[in-house]
Amino acid sequence: MGTCHGPKERARVNTNTTERVRVGIVGGGRIADLNKIGWLAHEHAQIVAICDLNETRRLERAAEWGCKAYAELDDMLSDPEVDAVEILTPHHHHAEQAIAAFKAGKHVCVQKPPTTSLASYDRVVEAAEKAGTVFKVYENFLFYPPHVLARQIVDDGGVGDVLSVHIVTGSGRLGAGQGWHIPPEATAWRMDPSLCGGGIMTFDHGFHCFQLGRMFVDVPVERVHAFIDVIPVGHGLEVDMSALISWTYEGKPARHGSWDLVDSADLDIMSHYYVSDDRLEIRGTRGIIWVNQCTGRLLEEPSVVHYRDGVVSSYHRVETDWSTSFRDATFDFIGAILDNRPPRLDAAEGRATLAFALAAQLSATEHREVAVAELAGPPRGR
Ligand SMILES: NC(=O)c1ccc[n+]([C@@H]2O[C@H](COP(=O)([O-])OP(=O)(O)OC[C@H]3O[C@@H](n4cnc5c(N)ncnc54)[C@H](O)[C@@H]3O)[C@@H](O)[C@H]2O)c1
Repeated sequence: MGTCHGPKERARVNTNTTERVRVGIVGGGRIADLNKIGWLAHEHAQIVAICDLNETRRLERAAEWGCKAYAELDDMLSDPEVDAVEILTPHHHHAEQAIAAFKAGKHVCVQKPPTTSLASYDRVVEAAEKAGTVFKVYENFLFYPPHVLARQIVDDGGVGDVLSVHIVTGSGRLGAGQGWHIPPEATAWRMDPSLCGGGIMTFDHGFHCFQLGRMFVDVPVERVHAFIDVIPVGHGLEVDMSALISWTYEGKPARHGSWDLVDSADLDIMSHYYVSDDRLEIRGTRGIIWVNQCTGRLLEEPSVVHYRDGVVSSYHRVETDWSTSFRDATFDFIGAILDNRPPRLDAAEGRATLAFALAAQLSATEHREVAVAELAGPPRGR
């Protein structure tokens, strides 16, 4: 399963694409406030349409972006001005919307998690391959500047061979005067695993952490074990926290990773966005990297610390606002279309992370260790 575009097929897409990417956004909800940043900032891109079932939201976004408003996706897809489609809807819609967009010959970017199952993901990839247009899975932690710097340090040999990746996510309550208002309807669909695809924390948010788990080690994740507790929140609903998920990577030397998700109910989380404090430790044969910041702002400075050979390097001048990761993830999609190159994450990479995320859900449900290959088949990408 490779990248779904090529010079030959590009002729089928509106030629305007080579100068300016004109996007239609499907779903103008909470995260559109960050997904819009790259589209508005890039000189070769333009938001030309919004499609949202919610009339008020649709009209508000159309006024904000100066674009057309569509209630029906099919109508937006038949608009020849739309070169690319960005899907920002609840997860259970992603597959069918992406397939429809590919059938209309559009480039497609779908917010994480791309689909709720590998079977539906593979149908999307099949449609992408037939269309010959760009398919990107949108995961922004991959573009967060401190994470990018950490990967650069790894590539420069700064830790030797990576042996372990440990991620900690702290949940709690928003500090006074902090963070975003999340509309109740944006939480409601996430609380239903049949719409979300898994738990609101360990699958929805988890996709980021599983991507981080794959970001610093260039071999596939092999086995996953997940303890996932639940907290009742009333009306028969529960949130999937706390959790401890661990995994091993293929091959030798032995390498492993973990994601520790802790709900500290009375911990004030300082954040401009969600109530989430994600941090990271990468250990190698001769060095260590700590990344102290992501969505939340608990330990802002230095955002990255590197230890090797008795020397501590602290990085203070890295862009740290979480929104920068969205800008750069969107720029990646635009660049993939304009430069006719694969995006990060392409079809194969997105599948590997989805399989990892689903393996963790299965492990918790069945109370056993799960081999990723049980779900994904033999490894297809790192
Ligand atoms: N990368 C991140 O950090 C991040 C953060 C939040 C959300 N997300 C992802 O973005 C997506 C959207 O999340 P959100 O928080 O903005 O959700 P939301 O509920 O706030 O917004 C969803 C929007 O989609 C619209 N919608 C629903 N069904 C539709 C349909 N069939 N056709 C057209 N419009 C439809 C709704 O009216 C709403 O405006 C999800 O995939 C989510 O996982 C990613």
